[in-house]
Amino acid sequence: MDTMNSHTYIKTEIKHPLEPLTPTEVEQTVAILRNQKQLGPRIRFAQIVLKEPEKDFVLSFQKGDPIDRQAFVILLDNETGKTYESIVSITNKQVISWKYISNVQPGFMLDEFEECEEAVKNDPHYQEALLKRGITNLDLVMIDPWSAGYFGDEEEGKRIARALAWVRKSPNDNGYAYPISGLTAIVDLNKMEVIRIEDFAKKPLPPLDGNYTPETSDSIKLRTDLKPLDIIQSEGPSFEIDGHHISWQNWDFRFGFTPREGLVLYNIGYKNKGRIRPILYRASLAEMVVPYGDPTPFHNRQNAFDSGEYGLGQLANSLTLGCDCLGEIRYFDAVMSDSRGNVKTIPNAVCLHEEDNGIGWKHTDWRNDNTEVRRSRRLVISFFATVANYDYGFYWSFYQDGTLGVEVKATGMVNTGSLEEGEAPKYGTVIAPQLYAPNHQHFFVFRMDTQIDGTKNSIVETNTVPEEKGADNPFNNGYYVKSKVLKTESEAARSLNLETARTWKIINPNSKNYVGQPVSYKILAEANCVPYANDESSLMKRAGFIKNHLHVTQYDPNEMYASGKYPNQNKGGDGLVKYIQADRNIENEDIVVWYTLGLHHIPRLEDWPVMSVDVIGFQLKPFGFFDRNPTLDLPRPTPRCEDHGHHHH
Ligand code: NI
Repeated sequence: MDTMNSHTYIKTEIKHPLEPLTPTEVEQTVAILRNQKQLGPRIRFAQIVLKEPEKDFVLSFQKGDPIDRQAFVILLDNETGKTYESIVSITNKQVISWKYISNVQPGFMLDEFEECEEAVKNDPHYQEALLKRGITNLDLVMIDPWSAGYFGDEEEGKRIARALAWVRKSPNDNGYAYPISGLTAIVDLNKMEVIRIEDFAKKPLPPLDGNYTPETSDSIKLRTDLKPLDIIQSEGPSFEIDGHHISWQNWDFRFGFTPREGLVLYNIGYKNKGRIRPILYRASLAEMVVPYGDPTPFHNRQNAFDSGEYGLGQLANSLTLGCDCLGEIRYFDAVMSDSRGNVKTIPNAVCLHEEDNGIGWKHTDWRNDNTEVRRSRRLVISFFATVANYDYGFYWSFYQDGTLGVEVKATGMVNTGSLEEGEAPKYGTVIAPQLYAPNHQHFFVFRMDTQIDGTKNSIVETNTVPEEKGADNPFNNGYYVKSKVLKTESEAARSLNLETARTWKIINPNSKNYVGQPVSYKILAEANCVPYANDESSLMKRAGFIKNHLHVTQYDPNEMYASGKYPNQNKGGDGLVKYIQADRNIENEDIVVWYTLGLHHIPRLEDWPVMSVDVIGFQLKPFGFFDRNPTLDLPRPTPRCEDHGHHHH
């Protein structure tokens, strides 16, 4: 017997209370639950994550302090349809709490996707509906279980998926070119059986393929005129890693990864004035929702909550060097469980690397020809998730000047529908003959638990206004900034306004910079949009948070998700919209800032057969946080760039 291979695992030394659960800890959590609770055979583990300790404990934690490692677990009993939440102390080998949560549905579990596809394909009525359309080879049918949302259907109380389908012509074919429009299977996921089939209309399959590789499409010849572009970091990267703690160029932070949110950043700070000055306690994607704008039967329920319903973290890709990230890369695995309680590790789910970012700052003194240039570099931590047809990259960038950037990249396949010959769709774009992509939007809500120089922060709205005509403004050129502290949660539900260059600053009224202003970070908005569904729509009842670009709440550790804890099949009224009804004070308080980012997507022909990345994002920019430009100490580029040519007027 090979003793090296026995179960004597090395006990991991957990150095910090925010270190994510290790594979061993996930195993132990499941074992403790199985031992101490009579878990039925049809219990599924919907989620096993670190139970984050209280903020006070984390902030006062000193290296070597004892840590009670706890897991937060969501379980679903397929037998009864009941959902439970449990907290397990791994350290004390004990189930600390066990709670039945009524009238909720956990998000999809990955194994449910596969089982759902099986169930639909095995259903004789569904097979009949396929046969009517001339589809006989079930292996080529792609079943995408869409979240059911909430439309007051008779299936209320059941755990439901609405399965939409596409069909390939061959195993490596792009099936999204051939939507089986008009056919939906309603699946009971607890019983894993089809309960109903909706057969609205039999549409012809579009005539052309949607293939995008040279192997699958004769019309694609890969370019051969591209020379290598190598990123060489001969002395290695400039960051330092200790577990999930990262330090780089004055930045200091930790990260974790959850099946729902994907990347989570903690305790982000910047070293300045001899100490690490805190900026954010926790930053994460708090929800994303993709509402479709087509009111016709096959598409009018498409509102995917990709984070709360599907779990962006559990859908993370394993990343590959040279493909997903270039340069000196450090990858991290994401640890979670499958629904049967087995450890599931996504290798290389998170990528950490540095990128050259062009000119940081530059000035040429044209009288003496002295030029000073500093290059900018950014540290990027990212992951990519595939949600059926779409693929999303999430990038957090740390810049040397204290700017923090958030970018989302949307790519992959647009959602598709079939058209009759000559049919011109009102609510979408024809992207190929008899194939169309409905109009839709992608909303991303980022939750930022701020701690600018300390826990107590305020939010200030700034609007730029033109000066009145008159003696003070003789040439009518004047304008100035009007600032206002937003004092309550209801007052802070706000939207962007291009006319006033509106933005918001997160300030610490108790910490002043050297000219006496409160230190602050401002939200630098980039592209954004507003929703078009009206207030009576199911979407707006469930995702009312997309009505505003900004929300600010008083910190409550139970308020983590813009759509509420259990958005799947939820009729709405939970989440951010509910949190702000308390209308708590947000001035000089422990506050959480929620920023909503909308990508308005009217599909283009060029989005097909695969869409080039659409990038959307925002930045948190220091605004009087530092006393002056904090990058004067950046090293000069080597060799020094000087005296190249002469100055000409
Ligand atoms: Ni899109």
